[in-house]
Amino acid sequence: MNTSILETIRPAGMTRRQFIKSIIAAGVVSSSALLYSNPVGAAPKTSHGAVERLITLNVNGQQRRVDVLPQETLAQTLRNKLGLMGLKIACDRGECGACTILVDNVPHYSCSILTHSVRGKNVLTIEGLARPDNTLHPLQQGVFDEQGFQCGYCAPGFLMSTLGYLKTNPNPNRQELAHGVSGNLCRCQDYDKILTALMRGAEYMRKG
Ligand code: FES
Ligand code: FES
Repeated sequence: MNTSILETIRPAGMTRRQFIKSIIAAGVVSSSALLYSNPVGAAPKTSHGAVERLITLNVNGQQRRVDVLPQETLAQTLRNKLGLMGLKIACDRGECGACTILVDNVPHYSCSILTHSVRGKNVLTIEGLARPDNTLHPLQQGVFDEQGFQCGYCAPGFLMSTLGYLKTNPNPNRQELAHGVSGNLCRCQDYDKILTALMRGAEYMRKG
């Protein structure tokens, strides 16, 4: 594994395994600005005359009330207003998959859908995978056991895409799963190891 990027962003006092586990569990990357720009890290842009409207979203099984602008993307709302920082905004134009979440069990690029459009639907982010007692989801556990990611920035997106794909094909071969997550990109580019980790996670899911 290329440790240079990981070692650059790993917080002092946290072991490498602890750091990787935190990424897999909640998508936390402490210094993501080292890897990607985040053009929407600040508050959403406002257009002249646009006003926020209070809506209710179902996110990770909870009803969340939030003020939303008409042009606000789901990625902006989840990260900036609901504090769900696991999804990442990298390209912000539907090309990389770092922002992938599930809407009614289907993977979506959250940077490319408007928050208003998911009212009445079930939104699932990486934070919603682990159990209340912090036991990792089987897919997360498989990825953790295989240590498939390098810096981990893309991991939440890959995990959510995989989870969505496995709902349609629970027992994929390697080629099928590769196709299933082909909408996700990794800058560290060790796709072979990522795929091995995701296949292990799929295996754990089948075993329950
Ligand atoms: S940030 Fe949404 S697809 Fe890249
Ligand atoms: S592991 Fe670094 S971007 Fe994918």
